[in-house]
Amino acid sequence: MNFVMEHEHYSYVEALKFLAKKYNIQIEEKEETPEEIAKRNNRESLMIVSSFAQKYFSDYLWKENEGRAVGLGYFRERGMRDDMIKQFDLGFCPDHKDSFTQAALRQGYKMEFLTGTGLTIKRDDWIRDRFGGRVMFPIHNIAGRIIGFGGRTLTSDKNTAKYLNSPESDIYHKSRVLYGIFQAKRSISKTDKCFLVEGYTDVISFHQAGIENVVASSGTSLTEGQIRLIARFTKNITVIYDGDQAGIKASLRGIDMILEQGINVKVVPLPDGEDPDSFSKSMSATQLAEFIAENETDFIKFKTRLLLDSAENDPIARARLIGDIVRSIAVIPDQITQTVYIQECSKLMNVKEDVLYQEIKKIGTKQTEERIKRERREQFRTKQKAEPPPLPPPDFFNPEEIHASTHVPSVNSVSQIPVTKLSNPCEVEEHELLRLIMKFGNHELFEFEDEETGKTEMLTVAEFIISEIDQDEITSIDPLYQRFFDAIRELLIKNSSTKIDRFFINNPDIEISQLASNLAAEKHQDSKLWTKKGSHVETEEDVLTQLIPKAVQEYKLRKVRHFQQEIITQLNQTNPEDLDAQNELMSRFHHLKQVEKELSELLGQRTINF
Ligand code: CTP
Ligand code: MN
Repeated sequence: MNFVMEHEHYSYVEALKFLAKKYNIQIEEKEETPEEIAKRNNRESLMIVSSFAQKYFSDYLWKENEGRAVGLGYFRERGMRDDMIKQFDLGFCPDHKDSFTQAALRQGYKMEFLTGTGLTIKRDDWIRDRFGGRVMFPIHNIAGRIIGFGGRTLTSDKNTAKYLNSPESDIYHKSRVLYGIFQAKRSISKTDKCFLVEGYTDVISFHQAGIENVVASSGTSLTEGQIRLIARFTKNITVIYDGDQAGIKASLRGIDMILEQGINVKVVPLPDGEDPDSFSKSMSATQLAEFIAENETDFIKFKTRLLLDSAENDPIARARLIGDIVRSIAVIPDQITQTVYIQECSKLMNVKEDVLYQEIKKIGTKQTEERIKRERREQFRTKQKAEPPPLPPPDFFNPEEIHASTHVPSVNSVSQIPVTKLSNPCEVEEHELLRLIMKFGNHELFEFEDEETGKTEMLTVAEFIISEIDQDEITSIDPLYQRFFDAIRELLIKNSSTKIDRFFINNPDIEISQLASNLAAEKHQDSKLWTKKGSHVETEEDVLTQLIPKAVQEYKLRKVRHFQQEIITQLNQTNPEDLDAQNELMSRFHHLKQVEKELSELLGQRTINF
């Protein structure tokens, strides 16, 4: 995608259209509804106001007496260098009722957006700047646009919140914000690693000490959305939270969540009472880098060290600690990583690996169930908010090839478990395959030569269909259909001569048996396609060797096209600045286009429009 953009000097949207034209796809320029247009305009307006505010606060910090004395003085006092203050667009909001709001209104910004961003608080009889008297930390999105602010009070009054943050809005979703991601993303990619800290000042101090691959969760407990944001750049996260009880607790919670996303996690414990900001300032940049390198531990050592003191001579506490660590290991989706950690845990805790594997097995299923449930809930929630789908579609046909072409980490397969999809785009084709299996499953279809024995055998309709589906690892998003396909496969493996229709009509799984009965009862009208000009109509049975492969190919074609559609939708929703994500999607798309072409040719189709 960036190739096109660079060479043709296209904007993102133009580039998308160019590619769509080249590949002959109709981009769903889904006629935006008036509400959608309004929403987009609203977001844009909110960002424009935020950008104005940032400039105003920065100007105020650098140019006005009050800003220089109070705001700039505060930052410098804390040891923050001017270049950092500039790089992070820090500012100061004047301490006079509504000065900022009035300035914005004078410039023509609408009150609606000032209150929409939360920069202005408006009641019936008064108007006030939300951040009056605070030093300002603007929050950039991944593309560098201002989407919110954190404002720190300069008083030590216990009744004033230390930080005030922008309220939730169409542009600011606390759970998906990572402070510093814009300034850090390049370095995260380059070093293939991301430090995760808690606060605004932690991020800036690390930058000042030359460590630029750092982002902050901003005090909230880490969310999956935040981790996914990091995961787009690296699979290695090192948590450096405050060295107090709250910080340790937060790290422990964060660890499992990170592991679960298939990301490697390390921890750097800090001395009690220190946070990354204070700690990094107490030493030189070189010393800091050394400290981190020496103290970075994997999560097992971290947990063990933390809990072992009390557990050493207490068998119950020890068992609890082992259980705790095993639970963390169990959430890791990658088997190899899991194995490595089991070995380490076994050594460290002096427990046999077998025992640990047993434990994992026990937890494993429970955890997976919980994860699916959680994902279902999350999907449901995001659906309700009508937000873009968080995950790219599953790779289709030969995933390695696609992955090799880009460094963007693929989303781990576990989170792709198809859950509450509302409609099944392949419903017709899947239904047809199941119908054919019910009706002709046991019919012999093709001869094939067994590679091992060299003998010629016959492949039945059911065997052919299932092997075709398996070959391309296609699954149905309809849970019942998928169960049916699985049951057929199982039956074929066990005993391929069982009468398929009877077996499923009498199936103990009621849903399957009902579906089977319906399928068997379905009267298929011998289509015109199979009508010979003259006297008689060919039955389906007469033309099985054409009919069955055709049904399979039509199914594959539908899937491929559906995935393409999904990619286009996602491209439309991808951040225009995120070239890596776009490239990944484009290469998948390109690949699917090839597959589609081959399938169309097999089917003798010329049209490749949707
Ligand atoms: N935070 C917040 N609201 C608060 C306190 C904290 O949103 N009332 C968030 C901020 O993002 C803050 C982070 O939690 O940066 C970490 O909190 P804390 O460690 O208390 O603040 P520091 O970043 O260390 O700030 P400072 O060094 O100025 O005390
Ligand atoms: Mn702190």
